Amino acid sequence: MALFKLPFTNKSTNKDSKEIHNSFEKIPEHIAIIMDGNGRWAQKKGLPRIAGHREGMDNIKRIVKIANHFRIKILTLYAFSTENWKRPTSEIDFLMKLPIDFLQHYLPELMEENVKIQTIGEVDDLPGNTKSAIMRAIEQTESNTGLILNIAINYGSKFEIVQSVKSIYKEVIHGNYSIDEITEDTIAEHLYTSHLTDPDLLIRTSGELRLSNFLLWQSAYSELWFTDTLWPDFNEDEFEQAINDYQKRKRRYGGI
Ligand code: IPE
Ligand code: IPE
Ligand code: MG
Repeated sequence: MALFKLPFTNKSTNKDSKEIHNSFEKIPEHIAIIMDGNGRWAQKKGLPRIAGHREGMDNIKRIVKIANHFRIKILTLYAFSTENWKRPTSEIDFLMKLPIDFLQHYLPELMEENVKIQTIGEVDDLPGNTKSAIMRAIEQTESNTGLILNIAINYGSKFEIVQSVKSIYKEVIHGNYSIDEITEDTIAEHLYTSHLTDPDLLIRTSGELRLSNFLLWQSAYSELWFTDTLWPDFNEDEFEQAINDYQKRKRRYGGI
């Protein structure tokens, strides 16, 4: 694993130091990941789909650790979409228990790593025990100052935009501002992500080349990075590869 290539060690020569410095400057501030392929991972091993979800959950810890190591500020993980309710009840039930398990097992470690847990999505509509485990973790990690681990759960980008439009409409009705005052910033300020920067790098595992209703507004100028690797197998090396590739991209935002 070439993990220590980036900012933290190995300042042996001037040339190296310069490269390291450049790398450090181009570390993405916000990485968003569509963690896809748990079911296929299990299927390939002749296991039930839920075995893939469990393995996928364990992988989150590994990726949080490396993201923290690279001083990524925000890691947004797509854990459950508004469309995932279409799945069989037994699979949904299992998926709803995973956050409880995850936090039970890993919260002490996340505290040690100074990770701050947040969510985007309709957490209020989750089963009560799932919601309360998440709320407890948010509260407990509230004053941590390291990586923001932002879990997208019961998240759908189109729903989020509809909600934004509705609350802006209400504010217009109440005379808080006029229609002409509505700008792109107004929409953004009414999304779940109002307090976050947009993702610089958006990763999807499992070979699917689509966004599946994830951060449609926020990823307007994100760099996209796809891999065939199934989420439970996505490791530190590939994470680093994605960052290295990102560092070589030229972000133009429509300019030249
Ligand atoms: C991603 O893995 C996890 C969730 C969507 C909850 P999948 O369950 O979608 O795995 P595949 O795509 O069927 O392999
Ligand atoms: C996207 O994966 C949602 C999550 C990873 C949570 P899906 O497996 O639900 O996406 P589609 O159905 O293949 O587009
Ligand atoms: Mg999938």
